Amino acid sequence: MKELAPSILSADFSELGKQVSYVEKAGATLLHVDVMDGHFVPNISYGDTVMKSLVGKTKIPFDVHLMIEDPNKFISEFVTEQTKYITVHSEACIHLDRTIAHIKSFNVKAGVSLNPATPIDNIKHIMDNIDLVLIMSVNPGFGGQKFIEYTLDKVRELAKIRKEKNLDFKIQIDGGINLNNINEAMKAGVDIVVAGSSVFKTEDITKRTKEFLSIIDEYKK
Ligand code: DX5
Ligand code: ZN
Repeated sequence: MKELAPSILSADFSELGKQVSYVEKAGATLLHVDVMDGHFVPNISYGDTVMKSLVGKTKIPFDVHLMIEDPNKFISEFVTEQTKYITVHSEACIHLDRTIAHIKSFNVKAGVSLNPATPIDNIKHIMDNIDLVLIMSVNPGFGGQKFIEYTLDKVRELAKIRKEKNLDFKIQIDGGINLNNINEAMKAGVDIVVAGSSVFKTEDITKRTKEFLSIIDEYKK
């Protein structure tokens, strides 16, 4: 299954519930929640209270992306009945294996994210134990940045390893995705596309979500 995960980082927070309902009704099956602490990345976004304000108001599952130092301490705060994935950065976890086990102990799917310059080798030994690998296609911290092309080589490398080892984690891409480069990402082997500014910083969020989904649908098996 191929999915779109609109990122609320670029939403208008004065009407967050309304904007999320647009992407949900348009057919998005995940909502990307970017959490930034001003330490791991040079920006502060929002915490669990913003995410929890959407519980029950929408039914869309949460895809939590923790761009924070020492995420182990905060995992439990992001566990709700709507939380499907919690993704941590390999660069932020000294005991990554333990953190993955901690996420899974809440019955939530565990993801690991790699910054553009971080090699795939870093997660070689834990690949069979995770549900998602997030390949960052910008340096994390801000929405609306330019897509870094070489990160698609990492997607291709990862898709190849997954096939060779017969594994089933999802490959997610995040950063700088728009209607012009999404096809390249899908062809490289992406399963879940995160899109922030290109979904929410538009006049018609519903229309734009549907445009993304109609492209993604072409790659559904
Ligand atoms: C960047 C975040 C992204 C961000 C993407 O650090 O992890 O999820 O919201 O925004 P766009 O799609 O605008 O690059
Ligand atoms: Zn993100």
